[in-house]
Amino acid sequence: MTSAAIEAQGLVKRYGEVKAVDGINLCVASQSIYALLGPNGAGKTTTINILTTLTPPTSGSARVAGYDVVRQASQVRQYIGVTFQDMVLDLDLNGRQVLDIHGQLYRQSKRERQRRIAELVDLVQLGDAIDRPVKTYSGGMKRRLELARGLMTNPEVLFLDEPTQGLDPQNRAGIWNYIRALNREHGMTLLLTTHYMEEAEALAHIVGIVDHGKMITEGTPSKLIAAMGADIIRIQGQGDQSHFANQIGALAFVERVQCDNQEGAVMIYVDNGSRRLAEVVGAASGNGFVIEDISVTRPSLGDVFLHHTGHALRDA
Ligand SMILES: Nc1ncnc2c1ncn2[C@@H]1O[C@H](COP(=O)(O)OP(=O)(O)O)[C@@H](O)[C@H]1O
Ligand SMILES: [Mg+2]
Repeated sequence: MTSAAIEAQGLVKRYGEVKAVDGINLCVASQSIYALLGPNGAGKTTTINILTTLTPPTSGSARVAGYDVVRQASQVRQYIGVTFQDMVLDLDLNGRQVLDIHGQLYRQSKRERQRRIAELVDLVQLGDAIDRPVKTYSGGMKRRLELARGLMTNPEVLFLDEPTQGLDPQNRAGIWNYIRALNREHGMTLLLTTHYMEEAEALAHIVGIVDHGKMITEGTPSKLIAAMGADIIRIQGQGDQSHFANQIGALAFVERVQCDNQEGAVMIYVDNGSRRLAEVVGAASGNGFVIEDISVTRPSLGDVFLHHTGHALRDA
């Protein structure tokens, strides 16, 4: 295997008029965690489907574990595991049966399946529940079972499509720990998708921000955030927002101003948030803008997204 576990060049997927994926290039280093971060409809699932050989690209090419996803699809499948965004569990089976059937699909021996199931039940802490019907499981337990299923074949590369969608914070933190352990302790390469910026920030070595089927920007979370410059003074209030934004943008210490029209907020990027607060407040009242809410924050990946796309990344 080369040092890149996943490589894609110019991936395009068209559905009629819709370009679900519009020229994505990707290089995921072996043994790293990469997160595709973007809003619903950005093309994340379609990208995963192409890389996991479920959907052929309209054009472009990709290799996973060194094999071409179109011409060598069956080899690719030997090296990967997948958990899907939408649950595909048979609710009438118990957890053990779900894992066992998956192992059979991959022609694992009975002995191998038993050994692997025992390890995985331990890893995802399903305990005695493994012998209960899946329909009695909570959302978090179902996700853990799906994760275990994706791991049955001990993949080199694991794809996780929205691994914590719909989970409460506690279950989410649990899944994050399993993901980190797989990478750290087993050297697994992980490609996950998410629309939660905290998830990308918490897990990924490299984040790729996607929107409308395109890779907008890419880097380590800390570099993406650092590239935003300093602090953000966020103001909500009454008055002519764009006039105020123009006036404040002309001040020397202001690096950039961005309006979030959906929320009616003005984000002012400054060299030092707490030091410039008084000046910003002064400038607001001088321009007849009545402040209702003001806060100073460090930029997040959500701000990186807003900066590069001009619109907000909202949790759906
Ligand atoms: N099978 C399909 N047929 C038609 N359009 C599709 C299909 N799959 C996805 N799309 C469209 O492609 C775009 C990207 O979808 P998707 O890859 O599911 O995005 P994400 O996972 O980021 O939410 C959306 O506009 C979606 O409606
Ligand atoms: Mg999706």
